[in-house]
Amino acid sequence: METVLITGGAGFIGSHLSEQLLKMGYRVICFDNFDPYYSQEIKKSNIRAILHEDNYKLVYGDIRIQETLNYIFDEYEIDYMIHLAAKAGVRNSFLHPFDYNDVNINGTTSLLEKLRYIPVKKFVFASSSSIYGSSNKLPYSEEEKCSPISLYGVSKLTGELLCKNYHENFGTKIVCLRYFTVYGPRQRPDMGIYKFVKSAIDKEQIDIFGDGNSERDYTYVDDIVDGTIKAMLSELDFSVLNLGNSSTISLNGLLDLIEELLGSRINRNYVDFKKGDMWKTYAEISKSRRLIGFDPSTDLRTGIENFINWYKQTYCIQ
Ligand SMILES: NC(=O)c1ccc[n+]([C@@H]2O[C@H](COP(=O)([O-])OP(=O)(O)OC[C@H]3O[C@@H](n4cnc5c(N)ncnc54)[C@H](O)[C@@H]3O)[C@@H](O)[C@H]2O)c1
Repeated sequence: METVLITGGAGFIGSHLSEQLLKMGYRVICFDNFDPYYSQEIKKSNIRAILHEDNYKLVYGDIRIQETLNYIFDEYEIDYMIHLAAKAGVRNSFLHPFDYNDVNINGTTSLLEKLRYIPVKKFVFASSSSIYGSSNKLPYSEEEKCSPISLYGVSKLTGELLCKNYHENFGTKIVCLRYFTVYGPRQRPDMGIYKFVKSAIDKEQIDIFGDGNSERDYTYVDDIVDGTIKAMLSELDFSVLNLGNSSTISLNGLLDLIEELLGSRINRNYVDFKKGDMWKTYAEISKSRRLIGFDPSTDLRTGIENFINWYKQTYCIQ
């Protein structure tokens, strides 16, 4: 049986990825410190259904601490590592710049240093569409020059550069995946779709940043999980790939869709656009289609319906 170490495995994407890998017959080791950026109870509930599975192991710890990493590598033979642990969230990065750099840059270095001496078959790094920043040729292709406009984006781009450097100097096999706004059941509570659905259900006013004409390429979590596993199993020695849905919707269009599906209004309070937010994200995915067979298949309406069903079930709403 092959073993996959997932850093940040108790988070939104990590918990879905763990479930899928367990179904596929892998042993999964979740390495997570239950960072308090959002409720630790949510993270516990993310992994409750798999916690007691025979092939699932939870290691509570911080990726920056080499002793915990040493323990994991002494205890298990790791075949693949998927690195999702991070300080996530664009706006929060301006409030906690040192934390973002420390976890996203030093934490990534800590893992890559370990793999320098104990290689794995593949290291998959969760990067982000935020690295494109003010690059303005749309859709974004991997060859585009990156100009991040948030500290979060800078930390992710630095992570990619570290990956490239460790690959070139030490031969570590790595795929960096630039995720485009991921959504679906268990989405982080600081993210748009979660906040919009909550505000409509709670009938509370919500700030909408900008005039509602900004656009996002939303990608359903199952498609992200599928692309991540394809990258893990690929023959690539080093690559940087976009994982997006490659279709966009304006913020107003998204709010209209949520209102239609919920049958209730969102009380919108339009305020100034936020520093660090990107005006538009749009993924060019021909490279990931060609190299790993990435093929996102969940349309936004279906994905939002799934999210709403999960939200209502989780919070006991009729
Ligand atoms: N969700 C998105 O739309 C999106 C988009 C682009 C990139 N990403 C990236 O994908 C990854 C997963 O995102 P997510 O939305 O699931 O976020 P998440 O916050 O739900 O998951 C991240 C997990 O990492 C853990 N973690 C944080 N710091 C840690 C540390 N020092 N040591 C160990 N564990 C630590 C957290 O406790 C959390 O469980 C992140 O790297 C994020 O930057 C996400």
